[in-house]
Amino acid sequence: MNIKFLNRSLLKFSAACALVANSAFAAGGGDQYVKDFDFSFEGPLGSFDQNQLQRGLKVYTEICSACHGLKYVPIRTLADEGGLGYSEEQVRAYAENYEIFDAELDDYRPARPTDHFPEIVDAGAPDLSLMAKARAGFHGPMGTGINQFVKGMGGAEYIASLLAGYTGEEKEEFGTVFYENTAYPGRWIAMAPPLYGEDVDFDDGHSNELKYEAMDVAAFLTWAAEPKMMARKHVGFRAVLFLILLSALLYATNKTLWAPIKKRAA
Ligand code: HEC
Repeated sequence: MNIKFLNRSLLKFSAACALVANSAFAAGGGDQYVKDFDFSFEGPLGSFDQNQLQRGLKVYTEICSACHGLKYVPIRTLADEGGLGYSEEQVRAYAENYEIFDAELDDYRPARPTDHFPEIVDAGAPDLSLMAKARAGFHGPMGTGINQFVKGMGGAEYIASLLAGYTGEEKEEFGTVFYENTAYPGRWIAMAPPLYGEDVDFDDGHSNELKYEAMDVAAFLTWAAEPKMMARKHVGFRAVLFLILLSALLYATNKTLWAPIKKRAA
C-alpha cells in the first residue's frame, strides 16, 4: 500500500465520519424550534421592563408556583432597583401569600421578605430559580452554537417557546402522560400545558394572549436567574467608555511626547 492510497482512504474515512456526525446533530436538534422573541433586556444597552417583570411575577404566582419553586430567590429582592421595584410595603404583603416552615417554631408561618420563595418538591417539577440560565435556546447551526453570538444564549426564548410550543398531542407511556412540544428537546414533556391564554388578568391592562403571558413569565425568570443584569451592563458600558477615552488620551500623549524628536529627524 503506498502513501497516496493511504492518504486517500483516510480522507474518505474522515469524510464519512463527518457525515455521520452531521446527521446525528441534525437528529438531535433539528426538530426543536425556539423562536427568537424580542426582549427589552437584550443587547448591551437593553434593560428589564419593570411592568413586564411585574406581570411575569403574577403569572408565576398564579400558575407556575403550584408546581415550581424558586428556592434561591429571596422575596425581598422584589424591591430591588432595576428589577420589579416594588415598595417595602408591597413586598411584605406579597410575602404573606406563602407559608414557610420555620424550624425554630417547628411550625408553618406566613413568609417574610427575608425568606426565600418556597421550594416545591411534590410535583416533580424542577426549581425555576436558575432555569433561564440553565437552558439555551440556540445551538445551531449543526450544534456549533454560532447563533448564540448573534441572538444570545436564548434562555428566555427557550422558556417562552416552551410555554407556547404545545401541539395538543399527548401520549401515555409507563403510566405517565407526555405532551408534544415543539421547543422541548425530544418533543415529549411531562408538564401539561400550563398556559392557554387569558389565564391571568394583568393590572396594567396588557394583553393576556398566550404569547404575552409566556414572554412575561420568561422575562421574570430571566430576572430571577440574573437579578444584577442591569448593574453588570452599566459597569460594562462605563468600562468600555473609559477605555475609549483612555485610548484617545494615550494616543494624544504619545504624539506630544514624540513630537520634538520626530521634528528633529525630519
Ligand atoms: C401542574 C404542574 C406544573 C405547572 C402548573 C407548571 N409546570 Fe413546568 N414543569 C412541570 C413538570 C412536572 C416538569 C418536568 C417535565 C419533564 O421533565 O418532562 C416541568 C418542567 C418545566 C420546565 C423545564 C423544561 C426543561 O427544559 O427541562 C420549565 C422551564 C417549566 N416547567 C416552566 C413552567 C412555567 C413558566 C410555568 C408557569 C407558566 C409552569 N412550568 C407550570 C410541572 C408544572
